Amino acid sequence: MHKTILITGGAGFIGSHVVRLFVNKYPDYNIVNLDKLTYAGNLANLKDIQDKDNYTFIKGDIVDAAFINELFAKWNFDGVIHLAAESHVDRSISNPMDFIMTNIVGTVTLLNAAKSNWSGSYNNKLFYHVSTDEVYGSLGSTGYFTEATAYDPKSPYSASKASSDHLVRAYNHTFGLPAVISNCSNNYGSHQFPEKLIPLVINNIKHKKPLPVYGKGENVRDWLYVEDHASAIDIIFHKGRIGETYNIGGNNEWMNIDIVRTLCKIMDKKLNRNAGESEKLITFVKDRAGHDLRYAIDASKLKNELGWQPTLKSAEGFEKTVDWYLNNEEWLNNVTSGDYQKYYEKQYIKR
Ligand code: NAD
Ligand code: TYD
Repeated sequence: MHKTILITGGAGFIGSHVVRLFVNKYPDYNIVNLDKLTYAGNLANLKDIQDKDNYTFIKGDIVDAAFINELFAKWNFDGVIHLAAESHVDRSISNPMDFIMTNIVGTVTLLNAAKSNWSGSYNNKLFYHVSTDEVYGSLGSTGYFTEATAYDPKSPYSASKASSDHLVRAYNHTFGLPAVISNCSNNYGSHQFPEKLIPLVINNIKHKKPLPVYGKGENVRDWLYVEDHASAIDIIFHKGRIGETYNIGGNNEWMNIDIVRTLCKIMDKKLNRNAGESEKLITFVKDRAGHDLRYAIDASKLKNELGWQPTLKSAEGFEKTVDWYLNNEEWLNNVTSGDYQKYYEKQYIKR
């Protein structure tokens, strides 16, 4: 069946994988990628599909209501997959207002446009909001987040995502807007901006720079390979029940320090360095303010209802990810020049 789908934030890390999957897998769909191209958005992430007939890129800001309304009127979207966001916790600590604007106001702007443009009939329409497990707050050393876990966000980032989730649910409940939400654990893989732990460490190992580990490195995250997240989004978009929330996770918990050590070992081999050489770069630095101790997802609802499971084991995923960054030197050099240097200096050198 033909559909026209708006994907927001499609030039970012996860969004680019979702756009690629949909453009290649559904030649009958028109995929419109709307992205502001902030520091995190990069059209080079989509070089391989940019000339496909069923793909259109539009530069724009989800906070700009007049522009968003025009866009909806022009394209008459059947569905929205909303990924555009400010996504980095550290930046939310130094500059919360960008997160309030994009993550909260931007989401409401899209909800309003969908509501008024679809007001004739909600048949076969869907607003899919992509969110994070961080809305549930922080776990102790045991337990898992389920879809019934009470929201308890702790950072400006997670609080802004929690607000947007509440608003999506409120539009579903109050106005009947057909909506679905997923809350996913930490993603890793190709094309991730090197402000996040895994690509930052890969880039620093490559350049023999210190590897900044916050606090004691004992915080735990549940890591999912980004293509597995994209496949979960595909399944939920097509088969998820309206009004429902689905948790997505890798069932793959790692302490930060163990991930950093593993990346050091993989890269020592690949770069023909002596065993143990890169580990010497590990540097424990001042902890992140309000640092959540542990996230872990119970994704059994998604498995039982829709049959989704992660496919890639972390050993294979980390190897593939390291290979991608080593083989895509130009991409890495481009995104780490200019403004990245200023960010890095402020975040790591002068803190
Ligand atoms: P990202 O920072 O790599 O990409 C975000 C994209 O949104 C960029 O291309 C950026 O240009 C665009 N954008 C930002 N503000 C915009 C605006 N005002 N208007 C239009 N476009 C704008 O983020 P990501 O890691 O790919 O995350 C994508 C989504 O998935 C986010 O909603 C995030 O909360 C969620 N999520 C991320 C993770 C993760 O581990 N990265 C895990 C779970 C959920
Ligand atoms: P990050 O990739 O920023 O994702 P999130 O904060 O959304 O989970 O960080 C993952 C973990 O790694 C988190 O516990 C913070 C830690 N971390 C470091 O120890 N050093 C770093 O330089 C960064 C960016 C993160």
